[in-house]
Amino acid sequence: MSKSAKLILGENEIELPIIEGTESEKAVDISKLRGQTGFITFDNGLGNTGACLSNITFIDGEKGILKHRGYLIENLCEKSSFLEVSSLLYTGKLPSKTELENLKNQIKEKSTIPEGIKKLIKSFPQDAHPMGITSSAMVALSGHYPHLLDQDLSDQQKEELFPLMLGQLKTIAAAVYRHGQGKDFIESNPELDYTADFLYMMNGDKPSDAVAKALDVLLILHADHEQNCSASTVRVVGSSKANLFASISAGIDALWGPLHGGANQAVLEMLDAIQKDGGGYEKFISKAKDKEDPFRLMGFGHRVYKNFDPRAKVIKGYCDEILEKLNVEDPLLDIAKGLETTALSDEYFAKRKLFPNVDFYSGIIYKALGIPTNMFTVMFALGRQPGWMAQWKEMLEAEGMRITRPRQIYQGKTDEKL
Ligand code: SDX
Repeated sequence: MSKSAKLILGENEIELPIIEGTESEKAVDISKLRGQTGFITFDNGLGNTGACLSNITFIDGEKGILKHRGYLIENLCEKSSFLEVSSLLYTGKLPSKTELENLKNQIKEKSTIPEGIKKLIKSFPQDAHPMGITSSAMVALSGHYPHLLDQDLSDQQKEELFPLMLGQLKTIAAAVYRHGQGKDFIESNPELDYTADFLYMMNGDKPSDAVAKALDVLLILHADHEQNCSASTVRVVGSSKANLFASISAGIDALWGPLHGGANQAVLEMLDAIQKDGGGYEKFISKAKDKEDPFRLMGFGHRVYKNFDPRAKVIKGYCDEILEKLNVEDPLLDIAKGLETTALSDEYFAKRKLFPNVDFYSGIIYKALGIPTNMFTVMFALGRQPGWMAQWKEMLEAEGMRITRPRQIYQGKTDEKL
């Protein structure tokens, strides 16, 4: 393949370099396009535009493949813990036994949130959406860790931030849940590992190994997903050299949307509505296909996957196993399976390559674990935080790192007179 592309623009003909990745993805490097031709490119939703070079996550949307640092997601779910995958994402390698123990101990030391953050959480109405509280608490942490706000952080500061953010968000998420239930907060239990400690701080009981493992796998499945909306948001905010607390808070806000992480909550609300409506899918599938109707089949479709989302496959397989282990009967699971089968056999969805995504089944397991629907997207944020941190760190350390500032094509009025 040629190492450059020729572009003919009127009288101009220019050569643009071609970049090829280690998984054979190819890009035309247009960094010099505007300087040489005065033209920019336009790409609504940036679905065809590479924003960065990355070593963290690879997705093959056509084949339904997801890898973190070269490891298949299915293998990581089977053989690694959420903390091991988090460390893999942030540092670039799986931790040794000693490194993992050190990470666990550092997180345990950093799992108590400042009193001011507890007060902030309690200052919200009890029925405030947990994502708004969580995002506020995250950025408010910047007031409590001023030594980690430098615009040029040292390696040591970046190393300190990793366990701190994991410990703090875990406790914030549990406290936000307790606030919504009108209950007192429960302090972290240093005898428990990350996921078990989170569940303990939610309910006051040590979870069974099966429950802790199920949540650990769910967190792994949400850990990173290359340049999704929220990860891109973290990169954009971090590119101005705003601190990590602000960048992660912005990522939480982007994730909140029902087209992104908020979809897991919307899926359960949709399944509930189908159940209340007598369980017929046809009406909802017709609504999803109706261009005049804004309703979309939540948990279906993806900007990148035009095949099954591999995470949805793992979660679907887990659903039956976990519900059986927990002795939970959930009719919504049967509705979800029926809806999936019906949609996948419908021309509209097949033609557009719309398959279930990570959000379609995850809520069934969260519900079985006793997590309320309005906390589902906070769970997504808890899982995604290590990925956001890895993307932020890679952005800051990238060669030629610069502030993200896209261009536009102006279409407004030109010669207004006052
Ligand atoms: C996540 O990016 C990531 O990696 C995200 C994520 C991650 O891990 O970070 O994977 C997590 O956000 C998963 C997606 C969760 N969102 C949902 O489940 C919401 C429902 N899905 C859709 O809103 C939609 O599929 C998106 C937002 C996910 C993707 O939207 P795109 O890529 O902009 O697709 P599109 O709107 O251009 O749709 C193409 C066609 C359109 O029809 P036509 O105009 O061609 O006739 O497909 C249709 C759309 O109307 N379509 C759907 C649909 N999704 C797309 N029609 C009905 N139901 C749907 N869910």
